[in-house]
Amino acid sequence: MIGARSFIAAILLGWGLAAPAELAAAEAAAELAGLPPGPGREAVYYTCRACHSEKQFTQQRMGRAAWDELITNMVEENGMAEPEPWARNLMLNYLASHFGEAGEDDWAGLPASPGREEVFYLCQACHSLAIVKQQGLSREDWDETLVWMVEEQGMPEMDAETEQSVLDYLATHFGPDRPRGQATATP
Ligand code: HEC
Ligand code: HEC
Repeated sequence: MIGARSFIAAILLGWGLAAPAELAAAEAAAELAGLPPGPGREAVYYTCRACHSEKQFTQQRMGRAAWDELITNMVEENGMAEPEPWARNLMLNYLASHFGEAGEDDWAGLPASPGREEVFYLCQACHSLAIVKQQGLSREDWDETLVWMVEEQGMPEMDAETEQSVLDYLATHFGPDRPRGQATATP
C-alpha cells in the first residue's frame, strides 16, 4: 500500500504535477510510523534517519545517560552534526521515554491484562520484547507467528489454554489498528 502510494506519487511528480496534499500527509505519517508519537519524534526521525534506518536503534533499551553517550558517539565517530543543546535535549527526552530502560517490575512496558505474564516469560526467553511490541498483527497473523516460533525457532509448545491467553493478549494489545511501537494502554 505504501509502495503503491509512493509509486503513484512518483508518477505524479514525474509528470510535473503536484502530489495531492492528502497523499503527501499520508506518506509522511506512514514513514514516521516506525517511531511512536510524542514530542521529539520528528527531531529524532529526521536527525537519525539521515544516515540509517530507525531500526538501528528502536530495539535498544537504555537510560538517558546512555542515550546521551550514544549521541556523542554518533557525533565523534560517525560524522553526525553536533546538535543544538535544545535539540539534543528534545531527542534525549524522546529516546529515554520511548526506548528507556525497563525496570525490574514494569513488565518491559507490556500493558496489564490477562496473558501478560505468559507473554513476558515465554517470549523473552529468546529475544527482546521490543520485537513483539513493535508488531501490529491480526489474531490470525499472531497465530502464524506462534506456529513459526514453535516449528522453526525452537519455542516450547504451549498447552491450549496458554496459547489462547497469549493469542488474546497479543491480538488485543498489538493488533493492526494502532500506531506501531505503541501499546493500547499503559500499565
Ligand atoms: C552522520 C551519520 C549518522 C547519524 C546522523 C546518526 N548515526 Fe547512528 N550510526 C551511524 C553509523 C555510520 C553507524 C555504524 C553502523 C554500523 O556499524 O553498522 C551508526 C550506528 C548506530 C547504532 C548502533 C551502533 C551503536 O553504537 O550502538 C545506533 C544505536 C545508532 N547509530 C543510533 C543513532 C541515533 C539514535 C541517531 C540520532 C540521534 C543516530 N544514530 C544518528 C551514523 C549516523
Ligand atoms: C526458542 C526461542 C524463541 C522463543 C521462545 C520466541 N521466539 Fe520469537 N523469534 C525467535 C527467533 C530466533 C527469531 C528471529 C527469526 C528470524 O528473523 O529469522 C524470532 C523472531 C520473532 C518475531 C519477529 C518476526 C519478524 O517479522 O521479524 C516476532 C514477532 C516474534 N519472534 C514473536 C515471538 C513471540 C510473541 C514469542 C512468545 C510467545 C516468541 N517470539 C518467542 C526465537 C524465539
